[in-house]
Amino acid sequence: DLNIKINDKGHLDIGGADAVDIADEFGTALFVIDENRIRDNYNRFYNAFSKYYPDFRVYYACKANTNLAVLKILEEEGCCIDAVSPGEVYTSKKLGFDGDRILFTGNNVTTEELKFVYEQGAVINLDSVSALKRLAEVIDPNGVKISFRVNPMVGAGHHDHCITGGVMSKFGIMESEAVEVYKLARELGFNPVGMHSHIGSGILDPEPFKLAIESTMDIAGKVHQEAGIDFEFVDFGGGVGIPYTPEESIVDIDKFAEENIKLFKEKLEEYDMGNPTMYLEPGRYLVGDASVLLVRVNSVKQSYRKFIGVDAGFNTLLRPAMYDSYHHIVVANRMNDEAVEKVDIAGNVCESGDLFARDRMMPEVEEGDLLAILNAGAYGFTMSSNYNSRPKEAEVLVKDGECFVVRERETFDDLFNKQIIPDHLE
Ligand code: LLP
Repeated sequence: DLNIKINDKGHLDIGGADAVDIADEFGTALFVIDENRIRDNYNRFYNAFSKYYPDFRVYYACKANTNLAVLKILEEEGCCIDAVSPGEVYTSKKLGFDGDRILFTGNNVTTEELKFVYEQGAVINLDSVSALKRLAEVIDPNGVKISFRVNPMVGAGHHDHCITGGVMSKFGIMESEAVEVYKLARELGFNPVGMHSHIGSGILDPEPFKLAIESTMDIAGKVHQEAGIDFEFVDFGGGVGIPYTPEESIVDIDKFAEENIKLFKEKLEEYDMGNPTMYLEPGRYLVGDASVLLVRVNSVKQSYRKFIGVDAGFNTLLRPAMYDSYHHIVVANRMNDEAVEKVDIAGNVCESGDLFARDRMMPEVEEGDLLAILNAGAYGFTMSSNYNSRPKEAEVLVKDGECFVVRERETFDDLFNKQIIPDHLE
């Protein structure tokens, strides 16, 4: 169930453009983003939920991809933003998101950062009593709408690093303190109107989401009844996975929405909570399969293993090295060739862990071939770095076959950016 299209030349098609032509024109390594795919992903997701519960909003977890064009596309679609840092708030605001269309969910943020985010007009979702008290010291809390992230004691994710609920998690307030924390917020003058949870990332199994909805709603219900809080919104975070391997299936989003909304409504009724807006915060689902990373094969080496060497590394796409993540890789200039041998596909970083794939069945790959590393749209560029003094890659947006450079390739001079050699070393 991967999003792969092949044109009549046997090349990979990206949004109506030929991957081979794109690579020739803009060079490699290159992130290529398919605009229509983002729009489709957004609308499929939004429509699925709003059909069953019209008072529904999507807060795009922009940490997945903060390219300005991507943000602009989602802004046009009517999406809102889940921001986790002052930089994400600032960026989203510049792109036209405003007021309660930005929800700030920070973790271990400074008092100054909280104040800044407040001044930008974002709604603040607090992660601790500490943050609540510190915010109250630097702004006038009177009537200010806030929410709290709770730990629903359910966690799931494609890797341990991506599980964000349960006893080992650093996120959120505990169920046992929730009532007191909401009361305290009100005593301080705030208007606590929201509750938030997020259990993890890269989840294809629908079960943990159901458990999290139930558990979060039980906490919200208790806070409603015992602290008298009338919720304007309940936010169940992000985490919906996408298939990375050909064997995995896409989440049946309509069924997923129907089942979860049913649980949500049952809990609203059980606790007599009225009709708060439901928020979800997909990141990966909206942008993950909308981009590929095009890389050129620059060396083929038969050593103890067969290594296919390409012109990018974990500085460009960290996920395989960081989480052992599978990214499907295709030969973009010979899409119809059969897989015939197992190879390792290695990057150009000077570390052994810099592999995009190990023991991967591939067609016979030659130097000069163009590989496409799929599903590079979420946590791709945003997690890239200049490690090994590699300038960051360019990004191209494709819309109906037309290409637009949306991020220029960095140059060597960019590597000097903001560095200062002190006088005594001159
Ligand atoms: N909401 C909150 C509060 C989050 O922390 C996250 C992701 C999301 C929403 C969106 O999750 P998504 O729908 O994208 O799964 N770098 C990792 C993923 C880390 C996710 C962090 N939080 C990766 O490459 O898999």
